[in-house]
Amino acid sequence: MTKKRRSNDLIRVGVVGIGRGQGFARGATEALGMKLVALCDTWEERVRSVGKELGVAAYTDYAKFLEHDLDAVILANYFHQHAPFAIQALQAGKHVMSETSACFTLAQGVALVEAVEQSGRIYMFAENYPYTVSNLEMRRLYRSGAIGEFVYGEGEYIHPGPADDWNRISRGVDHWRNWLPSTYYCTHAIAPLMFITDTLPVKVNAFSLPFRPDDPVRARRPMRNDACSLITVRMDNGAVCKLLQYYLRGHGVWYRVHGSLGLMEGLRGGDTGKVRLIREQYHQRQTTPVEQIYQPDWPREHQAAAQAGHGGGDYFMNVNFAAAIRSGKQPYLDVYRGVAMSMVGIQGWKSVLGDSTTFEIPDFRKKRVRDLHRADHWNPDPTEKPKRGMPKPPCSIQGPLTISKQQLAYARKNWGSQ
Ligand SMILES: NC(=O)c1ccc[n+]([C@@H]2O[C@H](COP(=O)([O-])OP(=O)(O)OC[C@H]3O[C@@H](n4cnc5c(N)ncnc54)[C@H](O)[C@@H]3O)[C@@H](O)[C@H]2O)c1
Repeated sequence: MTKKRRSNDLIRVGVVGIGRGQGFARGATEALGMKLVALCDTWEERVRSVGKELGVAAYTDYAKFLEHDLDAVILANYFHQHAPFAIQALQAGKHVMSETSACFTLAQGVALVEAVEQSGRIYMFAENYPYTVSNLEMRRLYRSGAIGEFVYGEGEYIHPGPADDWNRISRGVDHWRNWLPSTYYCTHAIAPLMFITDTLPVKVNAFSLPFRPDDPVRARRPMRNDACSLITVRMDNGAVCKLLQYYLRGHGVWYRVHGSLGLMEGLRGGDTGKVRLIREQYHQRQTTPVEQIYQPDWPREHQAAAQAGHGGGDYFMNVNFAAAIRSGKQPYLDVYRGVAMSMVGIQGWKSVLGDSTTFEIPDFRKKRVRDLHRADHWNPDPTEKPKRGMPKPPCSIQGPLTISKQQLAYARKNWGSQ
């Protein structure tokens, strides 16, 4: 049983998953009012060694880990398994911060929302890209009215890389990175647009781009999925967004927001922390230069943020999670926003397989809407048996793909050298 925490006590944190999770673990410092007390990973040798290095308990069994004296759990386990882990932690009375995605089916989204509501604990979705220096500045500008009302946005998370690197972090043909449908990793593209403009997605149409048959990276990876997806999203204020995610040549993360009175965007090249603001004041006397390009600063804690990963965004994850726990108030990236942006990927894949037809993003703040979706277990995970009577959706727009001997042999060389 978790002991009652006094308001000035350090928040006792446990982290699940020691890949990405190590960043959260090392960032749970006293300066933020946090204290790392436990780690959990099924990779026993590694979790013991990191636990020893950080001087904290190491677990391989999640249920045992939850029995540790913890206030909060940070989930950086596999992409498609966060919701059941989060629900278990909430039911054990822990606050939860979860990596992306929040849920892998609509039924999981309903269950997660209700677990948060019933537990009264804090849930934060750990989307770090809204908290880069340029996105924080664009949120400030938007809220000041600098570009008027949100009309159109673009978000891009383009992440190519050599096969050796991808194989190193995707061990086994069933690792999620080797089969995840191309729309699912969409939260890095949409979260900043939602955060800057305070809007929610309501409808999607999506398109998937398979790998070219001659792609050298695909030839060296045991993959059953596509390279990239384009998702168009209608937001709840009527604006439209274009999201582009994953594997295209030309690495980059970039956002653009058109408003009724102007435009703001990050720079695509050079200093990508800079913001470009265009204000064509047709409606009034021009009071500012039409175009301004400048380097913004973080609104707070410049030094710590500047040293953190993902353009400073990683720093604000632990900061905001700790602040929410202390105040008892759900963070901006709450369960409803986390589930909504995760559903863009799920409904997006349904759209891809339905010839890009429109799918809605249901509003899970309403119980009557949740009731319509609590049995929606539609799930392309090839490692999971289909529910009775439900066809297994493929992970590629080309249908079920087979892995060649060459792909597997190359990946095995990478796995063997670890
Ligand atoms: N926000 C970001 O910028 C960012 C960057 C990288 C990864 N991520 C996310 O972080 C998560 C983890 O990604 P990763 O890169 O570390 O790779 P990963 O998914 O391969 O790592 C997951 C880790 O969790 C462990 N794990 C799996 N099942 C477990 C279980 N039942 N109990 C305990 N431990 C278990 C695995 O052994 C592994 O070490 C993913 O959801 C990914 O999308 C986010």
